[in-house]
Amino acid sequence: MSQIHIYPDADALAQAAAEKIAALAAEAVAQRGHFSLVLSGGSTPRKLYSLLATDAYRTRIEWKNTHLFWGDERTVPPDHADSNYRMAKETLLDHAPLLPENIHRIAGELEPVQAAQAYEQVLKTYFGEKTAPRFDTILLGMGDDGHVASLYPHSRALAESSRWVAENYVERTNTWRITLTTAVLNAATAILILVSGENKAKIVYEVLRGEFHPHKFPAQMVKPVAGQLVWLLDADAAARLK
Ligand code: 6PG
Repeated sequence: MSQIHIYPDADALAQAAAEKIAALAAEAVAQRGHFSLVLSGGSTPRKLYSLLATDAYRTRIEWKNTHLFWGDERTVPPDHADSNYRMAKETLLDHAPLLPENIHRIAGELEPVQAAQAYEQVLKTYFGEKTAPRFDTILLGMGDDGHVASLYPHSRALAESSRWVAENYVERTNTWRITLTTAVLNAATAILILVSGENKAKIVYEVLRGEFHPHKFPAQMVKPVAGQLVWLLDADAAARLK
């Protein structure tokens, strides 16, 4: 069952997401001794990551028992301006007391197929050879075309049913991306989709209230098998839902 929460603005959205993550982290550490958190890229999560790096969350989250992963990555080196890892490093990794060995970035500098295979091995080392890795929390954003992670409309990775990580050619940007596949997303204990801004109002309405066209709107493929799905929207992004 999915929940939809609407907040007055982007700051309130980031605050609510940080509180939700702190609660999920506490639950995971209490039950399993560690917390696996998948970060999303793009611009929306910057406020959230900066907030998580503040003293307010330094003791609220057991960073020493937190493992960070990425939902997708651009095929660029980790110091490139487009790197999702670099964005997280600037806003969170360099400021929270994480253990370096618990930061599991996608090696976007490799050839796409090699990068996907290498990351899948990282996940199998951490989770073991299960049917699908069960992340405690996966953060996602959503593009104005309805993509999540790097699962773009009508792209080949949407049909990937056995691999955990796939290389995906994105027509829109004429680039290769590395992305978790839908099976991995939907195996998560909790998925938080954060969407902000009036430019997302139309796609939010189409995805949440429109017809079911998952290959056109990949966000509609996000259906946790046994976990919770929480949409966190600011008022601008939710403007057409009323
Ligand atoms: C990426 C992200 C991507 C992002 C959406 C929304 O690599 O760009 O993982 O899925 O979440 O494109 O991006 P914005 O937050 O910038 O709107």
